[in-house]
Amino acid sequence: MIKNIAIFASGKGTNFSAIVAAVSRKLLQARIALLVCDNPQAPVIKKANRAGVRIIRAVRKDFATKKDFEAEIIRGLKEEDVDLIVLAGFMRILSPDFVRRYKNRIINIHPSLLPAFKGAHAIKEAFHYGVKLTGVTIHFVDEKIDHGPIILQTPVAISSKDTLESLEDKIHTLEHSLYPHAIQLLLKGKLKLSGRKVKTP
Ligand code: GAR
Repeated sequence: MIKNIAIFASGKGTNFSAIVAAVSRKLLQARIALLVCDNPQAPVIKKANRAGVRIIRAVRKDFATKKDFEAEIIRGLKEEDVDLIVLAGFMRILSPDFVRRYKNRIINIHPSLLPAFKGAHAIKEAFHYGVKLTGVTIHFVDEKIDHGPIILQTPVAISSKDTLESLEDKIHTLEHSLYPHAIQLLLKGKLKLSGRKVKTP
């Protein structure tokens, strides 16, 4: 049976577009049921409109409590019978209650080799630190930030010719192929989770 995915994003949405493209090229057998966006100005909203994906605009300040904010999101997830939540540049921390409710059904992409360079500026921090190797991590989401069992990790070398912009390009290009691949593995039941360890084929 075809699985329903919700993508949570706050910004540009290049990963959103890559996942939508993978579905239309049949590299990914899934339905993009929903975009959840917490930023009404985010370019990802236009992309979802163009792709004909339902959007839930959930702006935290429009709700008295975080619980109410998340209740609005949960309502949409239930209506669309969502099987998997894909965080793609969603810059808001989900509550432990929310994470527990969707245990092992939320994944995130992060532009570094976790546990190095957690947070919102991973590419810039890795570049300025001077590491020779960074990369992309896709992981299950647990109650901590940029933390949880690692599904896939691919390194990206930083050469002395790289600029911050060239490194950003390399990382984003990699993300756009790695994320649909990880989602497909997960939806096809090819990942085995045991404690913190994820077995991949
Ligand atoms: C991506 O590079 C993703 O790895 C990063 O946000 C970007 C979103 O780009 N996520 C994090 O830093 C999570 N801590 P996009 O809006 O173009 O998909």
